[in-house]
Amino acid sequence: MDEQLKTHLQELINWGEDTKESLSASSLSELEIQQWLDQVDLWQWKVNELLQDDRELTSSELNTINEEGKRIFKDIKKWKDMMANKEVPYGKHELPTLPYAYNALEPYISEEIMRLHHLVHHQSYVDELNKAENELYNKEPNDSMVKHWLREQAFHGSGHYLHSIFWKNMIPDGSGEPHGMIRRQIEKDFGSWPEFKSFFTKVASSVEGVGWAVLLWVPASGRLAVQSFEKHQLFQLADGIPLLVLDVWEHAYYLQYQTERKQYIENWWNIVNWQDVDERLMNARVTV
Ligand SMILES: [Fe+2]
Repeated sequence: MDEQLKTHLQELINWGEDTKESLSASSLSELEIQQWLDQVDLWQWKVNELLQDDRELTSSELNTINEEGKRIFKDIKKWKDMMANKEVPYGKHELPTLPYAYNALEPYISEEIMRLHHLVHHQSYVDELNKAENELYNKEPNDSMVKHWLREQAFHGSGHYLHSIFWKNMIPDGSGEPHGMIRRQIEKDFGSWPEFKSFFTKVASSVEGVGWAVLLWVPASGRLAVQSFEKHQLFQLADGIPLLVLDVWEHAYYLQYQTERKQYIENWWNIVNWQDVDERLMNARVTV
């Protein structure tokens, strides 16, 4: 075994030690920590065996050990992130902060629109969702009002969740074309990236009045799907998990584009955050 490979294997073992240290210092429960420590230990043991063997490794052996390490570290990170996402009690939703400045998406979406859209429209979905949840879960709802509050919950709740995805689906200057798992899945299900882009654009343009264009992961069929949502909540595939959403309500573009909704949709492609969409797909696939 050459020195370079030995150093690499030793680095993997050190990498495992660092991970175990950070796990032990984390706020996860003892049981959870132990479960991850066991996985890292077993993997480190395999790396150490290879190191002790002191023979040349095949590229497949090296690849397997590298990939297993990457998978364990990725899973630990995902688990920690998941645990960090605290439960939201009924009636306690909050407006999420934008992951960039209000003027960061210019020239495609103006600062004025972003301020109104986030601070006024999204805030109102959050407030009204809290009101509906308080009525439904924190009080004894009046029989005749149950339907009303359920409708309010569906409308404002979907409005809040979709906007929360929408902000993260965008990034200043865009991220170019999709890569990674989302790229492969788009090519598998839609033929090619340009075919998907043109189809999604058509769906967004077809929305009557107010609504969204949405790319979803459908666990039941193990495929992507594209569809429109009227308002925020109607005509949804019940089992779908939104990955990429485009707000085509007038409040999302009118001040800047007036009746040129087509231009807004075309320009929006310049600020899509494919990294975010890829992560959403990965999470959607492992949580079902
Ligand atoms: Fe909106």
